[in-house]
Amino acid sequence: MDATTFVLFGATGDLAKRKIYPAMYNLFVDGKLPQAFSVFGLGRRELTDEKFRANVEHSIRTFSRRQPADGSSLNAFLEAFRYSVLDIGRIEDYNKLLQLVEQREAALGADPNRLFYLSVGPEFFETIASNIQASGLSSAAGWKRLVIEKPFGHDLQSARNLNKHLSRSFTEDEIFRIDHYLGKPMVQKLEILQQSNPVLQALWTNRHIANVQITANETVGVEERAGYYDHVGAVRDMFQNHMLQLLMMLAIHLPNHNSTSDEVRTKKKKVMEALEPLFKEDVAFNVVRGQYAAGEIQGKAVAGYTSEPGIAADSANDTFIAAKLQIDDYFWRGVPFYIRTGKRMKEKSTRIVIEFKEPLKQSSQKNDERRIPNLLVFEISPNESITLQLSTRDPQHRGEFKPMFIDFRSDSHEVPEAYENLIGDALNGDPTFFAHWDEVELSWKWVQPILDAFTENLVPLQTYAAGTYGPAASDELLARDGYRWQFDA
Ligand code: BG6
Repeated sequence: MDATTFVLFGATGDLAKRKIYPAMYNLFVDGKLPQAFSVFGLGRRELTDEKFRANVEHSIRTFSRRQPADGSSLNAFLEAFRYSVLDIGRIEDYNKLLQLVEQREAALGADPNRLFYLSVGPEFFETIASNIQASGLSSAAGWKRLVIEKPFGHDLQSARNLNKHLSRSFTEDEIFRIDHYLGKPMVQKLEILQQSNPVLQALWTNRHIANVQITANETVGVEERAGYYDHVGAVRDMFQNHMLQLLMMLAIHLPNHNSTSDEVRTKKKKVMEALEPLFKEDVAFNVVRGQYAAGEIQGKAVAGYTSEPGIAADSANDTFIAAKLQIDDYFWRGVPFYIRTGKRMKEKSTRIVIEFKEPLKQSSQKNDERRIPNLLVFEISPNESITLQLSTRDPQHRGEFKPMFIDFRSDSHEVPEAYENLIGDALNGDPTFFAHWDEVELSWKWVQPILDAFTENLVPLQTYAAGTYGPAASDELLARDGYRWQFDA
């Protein structure tokens, strides 16, 4: 792998601590970091290299899925880390950083390939990108890459502005936009499973599939992020990015060979282009907007959203969204995709359920016969599994159908974290599981009428008790079409 200098903005932040350092450590243990590898952690706070390394070690001991067996391998890993104080707006600090980076690269005899990881608020992206360029940090002979985290904009217009600014310093091929749902191993498996199983390829159409249900429920509430969350809501925080990415990954049809990243991203773009647009006037019929009220989660009483610290008592922010979407193409025409995501739900669960049609239903089924639909279920987190639900008759009670499950489960300790996959791919320059600008733009475009309808109050805000599956209107969205959310207890 190419020698790499990893320049991390926001090195003392929460994401670095919880996700980035543990991911790097696991890549190191698996021999997936370059031989010549340096990390320059940057932050506003003064820190010595020793203190910085102690912080990185603490993060690994607290959050890594694998723990260091002995001190020496950990020390070898920490040896790569250095720290510099940097004020994001001060070009002098970037000039100083460039000298340090060049010295280190010369000492390692390494080519100057540089990855700039912006683990900071999006309001700083433009300043950092242009200072990287102005200081010459990005003009070395090797490659350069920019890794940024969502949110990419606040709406269609701001996303376009942001992209315009970033593209003055980095080309599209050099920008790696992290949507951590694309790093989840089960989401990545969706592509491989479809490509390598003719039976799935044959089934993946409106001839056999009745509907698709995509759920990302969380038990946590707004936590300490009131300032951020109250301005974005579930629609921007989860729906515009993670949920639409899940939809794209599920709905793409890939050729029967190992696809290139270009093929995958082009097919995803096609899915977004085929998504039937929603007009502002139709949002209320197809989208449910919810907000949690007080309730109980796993035996513990929790406050309602508007009683959370930092949230105004009259906030109309959405903490839940459910929507019905349709893809108007040859494969999916007529198959509803139901998507929902919410905070303070009954359980933490991200899953995709594919419900198959019952071709013989009308002709053979007696009215009182309760058949169980065939389902293919991808559990994405917290546990990973794939289950095929078939139907059989209970020998004890002849005539009664009961579900039979064919199961595949992963051992969660063996499964890499999303960030391991993504950082490894960014180091390798593989953009397959990063969001291309076209996808981001099309997602905002699709979501914009929902944002407008929410702002203009065209969609009623439904409250739901914490610890439930969301507002009743979410069940009605499916019931209207003769379906129900599968696996809601
Ligand atoms: C983040 C959102 O992108 O994803 C959070 O900002 C949310 O609000 C989180 O809690 C959920 O991620 P996961 O991996 O726990 O499902």
